[in-house]
Amino acid sequence: MDEIEGWWVIAESRDVGRAPRSVTRLGERIVLWRDERGVLHAHDARCPHRGVDLGEGRVVRGELECAYHGLRFDTSGRCVAMPCEGADARVPPRMQIAPRVVREERGLVWMWRGPTRDAPLPWPDAMPSHDRRAWTRTMTWDVPLSRVMEAMLDVHHFPFAHRRFSSGVGPRLDPWRVREEDGVVRAEGTMREERASRGWDVALEARLPGIVFLSFAPWLGGFVACTPIDAARTWIVVRFFVDVPLIGALLARFALWTELTLVQPDDERMQLRTLRARNDLSECTLVRADAAIVAWDRLAAKARQRATSARSSSSATRA
Ligand code: FES
Ligand SMILES: [Fe+2]
Repeated sequence: MDEIEGWWVIAESRDVGRAPRSVTRLGERIVLWRDERGVLHAHDARCPHRGVDLGEGRVVRGELECAYHGLRFDTSGRCVAMPCEGADARVPPRMQIAPRVVREERGLVWMWRGPTRDAPLPWPDAMPSHDRRAWTRTMTWDVPLSRVMEAMLDVHHFPFAHRRFSSGVGPRLDPWRVREEDGVVRAEGTMREERASRGWDVALEARLPGIVFLSFAPWLGGFVACTPIDAARTWIVVRFFVDVPLIGALLARFALWTELTLVQPDDERMQLRTLRARNDLSECTLVRADAAIVAWDRLAAKARQRATSARSSSSATRA
């Protein structure tokens, strides 16, 4: 399970309406719900009474009510009513649900994971912050996060894995300039025919904990946020934007439909057909064109180490 500190995208805002909704992210079941003012809250989804998923419940006067016996919790996670015990009943101290730190921005629900929480949202510089001229969809891959990131940072598979859609895209990735600065991997280069000097210019950037931005053309970009469901599966949200007045959103919708329906299944299939016992790069024989994947692997490994040492120092402080 990935324990990298940071803001993880865990849902789309539009997924959470008046009814609570539970999702599994980072190996945990989390209930998302809105109070009377529409403010989003997130808690551990397991009802402390007898364990029913609180996503099955409802919101009553700004409190989250469990579907089974009607116990109610306020926005801090405290149990404020146990109808079966009467209004004067003493609430056991364990009868509470742990809150999660979340914020809702850019049409997405972000959950903080880690001891500190002052980091900015990992939003790519080139991606507009509004979602006009954009369209968003989600998908789930039965592939662990590290391998999903590997797939997202891979450009040179295009003329082969997507042979049906890649006419005109040459097989050689050259130049391919990759650098890591301030926790961001940036890569830019050209897919071209062996003897051509020009080709398809591509640029990408990847930010912790699992954000990728792909620039296919100056007017077409894709934002991808990858979050583990558990150690084996990954939830992925993809937003395309097409910088064209009036019909940008429509074009983005069409481009995204094409990408997710016709193109991405090939990417997932390549991962599912990968015969590696480990999910890291240790069994691979890497080449120059894999440089962005290698840079990400290093960055993520450092972030994982930082998270592990922060956890061990905070448990040492508690001891
Ligand atoms: S299981 Fe939730 S109220 Fe009983
Ligand atoms: Fe692909």
